[in-house]
This record gives sequence, C-alpha cells and structure tokens, in this order.
Amino acid sequence: MAGLTELSRSIRGKVALVTGAASGMGRATAHLFADEGARVAVTDLAADGVKRVTEEIEGAGGEACGWLLDVSDRAEIESVVAEVVERFGGLDILVNNAGISQPSPVDAEDYEEKWERTLAVNLTAHMRTIRACLPHLKRGGAGRIVNVASTDGLGATAHGSPYTASKHGVIGLTRGLAVELGAQGVTVNCICPGPIHTGMTAAIPADAKDVFARRKVPLRRYGRPEEVAQATLHLVLPASSYINGAVLVVDGGMLAQNHLASLRDSP
Ligand code: NAI
Repeated sequence: MAGLTELSRSIRGKVALVTGAASGMGRATAHLFADEGARVAVTDLAADGVKRVTEEIEGAGGEACGWLLDVSDRAEIESVVAEVVERFGGLDILVNNAGISQPSPVDAEDYEEKWERTLAVNLTAHMRTIRACLPHLKRGGAGRIVNVASTDGLGATAHGSPYTASKHGVIGLTRGLAVELGAQGVTVNCICPGPIHTGMTAAIPADAKDVFARRKVPLRRYGRPEEVAQATLHLVLPASSYINGAVLVVDGGMLAQNHLASLRDSP
C-alpha cells in the first residue's frame, strides 16, 4: 500500500560510532545498525574484538571499519572521531556504550582507585566523546546520541557505589544535554538495561542468574544483548525525532515489580 505516514524508520547510509563494540550490547548494536544499512565505526580497547566484529559485519555484507579506542583517553577519542569522520564523510549517530563494573565496599583499600577508573570510563568518557562528536552530529541537523546507563542509574546494588554513581551521572548528563542540544537538532537519550547476558555478567554462575531472574524479573530471565540493541535502534531512528531526554528502561519489568510481591509469588 502507499505509505500513510511521513517519518522514516530507516538508518540506511547513516554513520554510527559505537564505543565498547567488541562485546555484549555494543557488538549487538553494531550488528543491528549494520543490518539496518548503517555504516558502523566499531570501536573498543580490545583489538581482537574490534577485528572480529568488523569482520562479522563485512562478512554479512555490511559496512564497518574498526578502531582501537580506549575511551578513558581524551586524545584517542579526539583522533578516532576525526578519523571516523574522514573515513565515512560525516557522523550521524553516537552510542556511548563502553563501560566497566568493579564492585567494591566503600571501606576497601582500593576503593578510590576503582572509583576513579569507573567514573573515567563510564561517565567522563561519555561527556568527552559527545564533545568530540558534537560538531559533526550538529552538521546534519538530526544528530542522535544514546548513552548506555543501567537500572543502577535509577537504584543501587550493594558494593557497587562507584558504578551506581557513574550510571546516575549518565542519566544526569543525558538530561542536561537533551535540554541543551535539542534546539540544535541533536537528540540525547539514555538506555537503562537490566540484567543482560554479556561479558560483564559472564562470571556470574548460571544458577545464580536463574535464581535472580526468577525472583526479580517478571520475564523470569536475563535479557539478550540484541533486545537492548533494538531499543537503542529505536532512539536513533529519523522517526524518533521528538524523543529527547528519555530514560528507556529495558529490564524485563524488573524495576516495575514490587519486591514483596515478587518474593511471595516466586519459587
Ligand atoms: P561487555 O563487557 O560485554 O562489553 C563492554 C565492552 O566495553 C567490552 O568490549 C570492553 O572491552 C569495552 N570497554 C571496557 N572499557 C573500555 C574502555 N576504557 N574503552 C573502550 N572500551 C572499553 O559488557 P556489556 O554488558 O555489553 O556492557 C555495555 C554497557 O552496558 C556498559 O556501559 C554497562 O555498564 C552497561 N550495562 C550492562 C548490564 C548487563 O547486565 N550486562 C546492565 C546494565 C548496563
């Protein structure tokens, strides 16, 4: 039939930079964007992973190019963004996904070390990558930024205060820049994944994951990286032109659930 609506759900030909794209949700996002016809800058500090994901995309007939990028290094961010723009002729979409989790009780000897590293990678790097990409994102008049926070950006897990603080910060950064950049045609949104099967959660034993999911997640399971990538894709569509400053929870209903009820109802 002839289309009745105007806005496009296609990112074909758009240039997207994804940080932490070697694994987990970053890899799934790079795959999905490439499937949708975007030209993808695959960046990560893991060289083998960058190579693998780039080859996976090219092998499937998509367009990608890989860069080594440690997002805690300001100079590297600036040079990689410049190279991406030179290689692809512009930049339309930034997904700030790279992140680490280093649990630590607040009175541990190495707490401050973990705090510094976690804030540098999970929060300061988002701000720096946005600043480096911004002139290019503004140019097209419809730039898209998605920051990956966490359900720990809205609540907290014991012994995870550096991570929790960084993810609350990501939500604050998202809202602050959504308000600031909206008038310049750039939208800034944020994804809050719940428990997802990725490298970050790989060390948690399967039975512990099962118990957690049964008790805490209405869908009774961990999520898959691609299920989060689909939410990210939605936020970067041309059609999502009025979504700005949103905090999109992708957690199988975890935060919606009343914990007393979940303990009563779950095995
Ligand atoms: P992952 O460990 O599978 O992937 C993270 C990627 O980031 C890795 O490829 C790693 O090499 C890269 N990375 C780490 N430090 C980096 C740095 N300094 N520079 C560049 N790349 C770096 O983990 P996952 O889960 O896919 O993580 C993606 C994002 O999702 C993170 O921001 C994480 O905090 C967030 N998240 C994860 C959840 C989960 O249950 N897996 C839940 C909520 C949020």
